[in-house]
Amino acid sequence: MKIGEVHDANRKIVGRTILHFDAVESTNETAKELLESDVEEGLVVWADRQAAGRGRHGRAWASPLGGLYASFILRPKEAHAWLLGLLIGMPVVKALRHFGVFAGLKYPNDAVYQDRKIAGILSEGVYRHDVYHVVVGIGVNTNVDLDKLPADVQPKATTLKREVNLFVANEEFLDYLLNQVDDLYSRYRNTRIEFLLKDYRGQCTTIGKRVSAMIGKDRVIGKAYDIATNGALVIADDQGKKHPFFEGTLEILK
Ligand code: BTN
Repeated sequence: MKIGEVHDANRKIVGRTILHFDAVESTNETAKELLESDVEEGLVVWADRQAAGRGRHGRAWASPLGGLYASFILRPKEAHAWLLGLLIGMPVVKALRHFGVFAGLKYPNDAVYQDRKIAGILSEGVYRHDVYHVVVGIGVNTNVDLDKLPADVQPKATTLKREVNLFVANEEFLDYLLNQVDDLYSRYRNTRIEFLLKDYRGQCTTIGKRVSAMIGKDRVIGKAYDIATNGALVIADDQGKKHPFFEGTLEILK
């Protein structure tokens, strides 16, 4: 059920209107349903919990009360759902740092703190009435106790509540996050993507680490070396051969 609607005319595109729900199946799905009507670009769907939160690679995203679950609708000129999802990791990390968790970006867009995941992003490209949209969903473990997350997730996850003594209301976190996303999207629209990818490279803590990745059926072990102009993580294997990696299993080796 919708429980509120917030407007902020100071934002350029993202977060000028926020629809607040108590519970939905998935904010990404609600945002996609809204695409059937004529919705403004930047519209945000925010829910207090999700009954069927979705993660990347078809995984579930545990969404208990206390966490932050929000999706927004973008209409970029080019079919850049994946790249936008990559770049939006930057404002997420910025918001976490602002509220006291010195998180980093694990390629492609996991926000991690001390090797534990604290936020994730699911971006999906959708055509509606021949117009290309991107729905970007962000889940942040804000005011969640670790034991409310599934047992298999707990050892690899953390929450803002666990890492920071101060209580941060989701509304406050979302407000700051949307300001950062709005700025990033405006840069995305007005700057060459190479510049943004350079910024991303600087924030991606996977760069310089030894990694193991599945690329198709092959396992590649080597050093995460660079971010290519298409957003791929370039891994240099022990023979110096470079392999681009986009999606799939990526393990950071100690
Ligand atoms: C991941 O790291 O696997 C991505 C997680 C994305 C979760 C968010 S929560 C808000 C939005 N709605 C969803 O169903 N998923 C995204």
